[in-house]
Amino acid sequence: MILVTGGAGFIGSNFVLDWLAQSAEPVVNLDALTYAGNLENLATLQGDPRHCFVHGDIGDSKLVSRLLAEHRPRAVLNFAAESHVDRSIHGPEAFIQTNIVGSFRLLEAVREFYGRLPENAKNAFRFLHVSTDEVYGSLASDDPAFTETSRYEPNSPYSASKAASDHLVRAYHHTYGLPVLTTNCSNNYGPYHFPEKLIPLVIHNALAGKPLPIYGDGRQVRDWLYVKDHCSAIRRVLEAGRLGETYNVGGCNEKTNLEVVHTLCDMLDELRPRADGQSYRTQITFVSDRPGHDRRYAIDATKLARELGWTPAETFATGIRKTVQWYLDNPAWVENVTSGAYQQWLGKHYGENA
Ligand code: NAD
Ligand code: DAU
Repeated sequence: MILVTGGAGFIGSNFVLDWLAQSAEPVVNLDALTYAGNLENLATLQGDPRHCFVHGDIGDSKLVSRLLAEHRPRAVLNFAAESHVDRSIHGPEAFIQTNIVGSFRLLEAVREFYGRLPENAKNAFRFLHVSTDEVYGSLASDDPAFTETSRYEPNSPYSASKAASDHLVRAYHHTYGLPVLTTNCSNNYGPYHFPEKLIPLVIHNALAGKPLPIYGDGRQVRDWLYVKDHCSAIRRVLEAGRLGETYNVGGCNEKTNLEVVHTLCDMLDELRPRADGQSYRTQITFVSDRPGHDRRYAIDATKLARELGWTPAETFATGIRKTVQWYLDNPAWVENVTSGAYQQWLGKHYGENA
């Protein structure tokens, strides 16, 4: 039995689905179902006795302690977080609450549970914290990629809150001996990605005939990894990672935002051409830059490859095609997540470009 937090979100739900496709080991899935959590992602698991969904907050110590005592998981994987940089700029409080206070309370409950385990169960137990490359800050165009020893220099409320949680996880290992593992991954994309993030937003807006908003000059660089490759890396680190270590996860797919948006437009031109025969590129609109916008992220995942033999299965070309096809095949999912609160977010953030 493993306990996954945030397993109704983008990466968490992909992880739970992949886990149960490959393993008989049950999952307890604790998720607060914020705007980003969606039980539809897990619809194929309905009635599956290996999946136990619990609606709740990682900051609810009583609930977490009860779940740990009841299910006695051999591992806790913490995906739960507020994850969108732009939202952290508009309203940082929720990020402090979940990413820092929530992670702290989760660690406390796990520490208490771990302390009471018999010796053999202690040896097998793991706490895996899912984090981000954004904790390392921003790179210049000719800087080497982030390694596990790069200095923490978070620049947004989101990345600062994730950095704080990484430090807490580290401290619980050094001070209390909790058997922790941390992964710091680059930008993910793939199925079930909420359309507030660049790739699903552009696919959604393109098909809806809306502007494709590019912040600033669009030459910021991100290092893209297909979500299922992130999930396989997490499984591998859980299986064989060295206690107390951090592992960078990335796919060596550095692209400017403009390159990404052009690729998406060209792929949609091929797979779902516009009725008027024009390219989706005509919908591209340059908008005000994100405050404090990090220029470039790049991940050096050599440690994960060398120590644990992990490499990604997808290139950007293969992963992005699967992703675009998934969105074309699942209009109902997009329709359901883009009503209500999503519309308010667009208005607040993009104004007339929504
Ligand atoms: P997401 O926003 O899609 O999902 C987050 C999930 O956590 C949602 O289901 C939400 O309901 C849940 N949640 C939020 N607050 C909670 C709380 N207090 N208690 C319980 N559940 C709560 O995020 P994501 O993109 O799937 O990211 C998952 C994790 O991976 C995050 O920790 C994020 O920092 C990290 N990460 C994301 C990326 C990326 O590109 N998306 C890259 C590297 C690391
Ligand atoms: O690097 C890992 C991180 O990647 C994760 O930790 C975060 O949870 C995840 O949201 C992601 O952060 P980014 O800020 O890089 O992702 P986002 O999709 O929001 O933006 C990607 C790039 O595209 C970034 O340079 C900002 C730009 N952008 C984004 C949006 C939403 C635009 O130009 N226009 C947009 O409308």
